[in-house]
Amino acid sequence: MKNNVTLIATAAMGLESIVANEVRQLGYEDVTVENGKVIFEADHQAIARCNLWLRTADRVKLLVGEFEARTYDELFEGTKALPWEQFIPEDGKFPVTGKSHKSKLYSVPDCQAIVKKAIVEKLKRKHGVASWLQESGSEYKIEVALLKDKVTLTLDTSGAGLHKRGYRVGQGDAPLKETLAAALVQLTNWRVDEPFYDLFCGSGTIPIEAALIGQNIAPGFNRAFAAEEWDFINSTVWDKALEEAEDLANYDQPLAIYGSDLNPKMVEVARANAMEAGLADLVDWKQMQATDFHSKEERGYIVSNPPYGERLGDKEQVEAMYKDLGATLRDYPTWSIYILTANEKFEELFGQQASKKRKLFNAFIRTDYYQYFGKKIK
Ligand SMILES: C[S@@+](CC[C@H](N)C(=O)[O-])C[C@H]1O[C@@H](n2cnc3c(N)ncnc32)[C@H](O)[C@@H]1O
Repeated sequence: MKNNVTLIATAAMGLESIVANEVRQLGYEDVTVENGKVIFEADHQAIARCNLWLRTADRVKLLVGEFEARTYDELFEGTKALPWEQFIPEDGKFPVTGKSHKSKLYSVPDCQAIVKKAIVEKLKRKHGVASWLQESGSEYKIEVALLKDKVTLTLDTSGAGLHKRGYRVGQGDAPLKETLAAALVQLTNWRVDEPFYDLFCGSGTIPIEAALIGQNIAPGFNRAFAAEEWDFINSTVWDKALEEAEDLANYDQPLAIYGSDLNPKMVEVARANAMEAGLADLVDWKQMQATDFHSKEERGYIVSNPPYGERLGDKEQVEAMYKDLGATLRDYPTWSIYILTANEKFEELFGQQASKKRKLFNAFIRTDYYQYFGKKIK
């Protein structure tokens, strides 16, 4: 492979296998899955393609090197030995962030300072700079991560997290991260020609992500990435990836996606976000009480993130609503229903045991994704 690099697609807890599937679907086969990350070898083209296409990953990082360090000397020498000059030019700006877990070197600010010093020394020698480095050019964000004395040094190719698709012009109290919303859609068996509803759409994240999936639109199509500014990556790499995304988008694919919410203001926010995403006419938005759901279709999907009732005083109301929702949706046994909630009594209140449950984290809230598979139509 030309210009081989090791990439790490970082993933929220519980989403690793979904990110790994996405990486494989992009054609990168040899994938290692670890806690919070998916590691694979690829060429420079993959940096652009993964940033553009990965719907459920947080970021794409480039692995510069790994080694063991129990002393600051070892950290300094190990860092200095890596080929930083291949990535960072003479005027490159390179802030260093860090984290340390279960390691002898536990002071993160000290680790960051040592790493910075080692890279400065290496770059000055390799680029032949006698004075200080100006750091006036493009940014190369470095992370030093220590885990059980193993040091991992990476460059962040994404810049802003990949959940920032560029379409969110408004939000409500508890918006779902775009990456998690995309995962919720991917965890269903929804086919793009089937009806898809979110009855608690809030700012519209789930229907918008479903529409992007439905028309095979690259989620990063409307934003920039840090590595677009990097000298060592040929700019044709980005042009090619954008061209590919344009070719693969299926803007003619008809969709039946609906988003509704009790709060008329949220419906407006969702509509504005969809407009910004370029999906103006693709999703039908409506102000509606979830329990008023009605459809004549034989089959369909409901994928929702209702309120959890965690705020004082909300719980009783939310639990009563779950009961009513269960009663309403009982009339749709051939529909598949997917509900993400932190309410542990959900199945009891909804009145049905889920076909499958999956533990997921919404920000830091532990939730379950209750999955009710629709009965087959004979
Ligand atoms: C957790 S938020 C959904 C957030 C959304 N997934 C997003 O990304 O913005 C729950 C939403 O359910 C709405 N809601 C609460 N009770 C409802 C009901 N009975 N029927 C319909 N919507 C309701 C709220 O207005 C709120 O927007």
